Amino acid sequence: MSLVRCAVLVSGGGTNLQALLDAKKAGKLPHVQFVSVISSRPDAYALERARNAGVPAHVAQRKGFSQEDFEKTILSFLEADRAQLIVLAGFMSILSPAFVARYPRRILNVHPALLPAFGGKGFYGLRVHEAALARGVKVTGATVHYVNEIADGGEIILQKAVPVLPGDSPESLQKRVMEQAEWLLLPEAVEIAAREICENQS
Ligand code: GAR
Repeated sequence: MSLVRCAVLVSGGGTNLQALLDAKKAGKLPHVQFVSVISSRPDAYALERARNAGVPAHVAQRKGFSQEDFEKTILSFLEADRAQLIVLAGFMSILSPAFVARYPRRILNVHPALLPAFGGKGFYGLRVHEAALARGVKVTGATVHYVNEIADGGEIILQKAVPVLPGDSPESLQKRVMEQAEWLLLPEAVEIAAREICENQS
């Protein structure tokens, strides 16, 4: 059985990337091989995590480049590394419809809320948790979904609810959502998507 070649796109700390690398090491991703980590920021700690795990790490800088040039650079890495599956793990840029159309049901994203709540343009990172607290929801969570041309609008693969507790700050809520939902759901969803690719190939 050949493994699905998977690239992970990141922008920051990379704790979701780490959850993927740890799951692979623990034998929980039998259909997945990580072939590439691509960061939209040169200073992302996620790059260090990739290098520590022996996964090729690249930078496709967003700042100072047009969307077109940014995506061309990403594509050149994806093609060179022959990626079949792309995981957006804390990737803070929105990919264009033209880019997404090249990889139907081949791009996954982890979002730190129960979509369709607190999703779409402008909802990323801590902002999502700030919005959830401002709205006063008592339950939030995480979603892993396929990426289509609508921001945070693609088919949902997995979701998990997490309680909002009295006195939560955006930071404490973010930490709980990561620990109790994102880091568990993302590896599970990546394995589901990879298994589906393998089954369709055989
Ligand atoms: C995570 O909470 C992820 O869900 C979120 O940013 C954080 C990145 O953390 N992503 C988005 O908001 C994308 N719309 P990480 O770099 O430690 O994985």
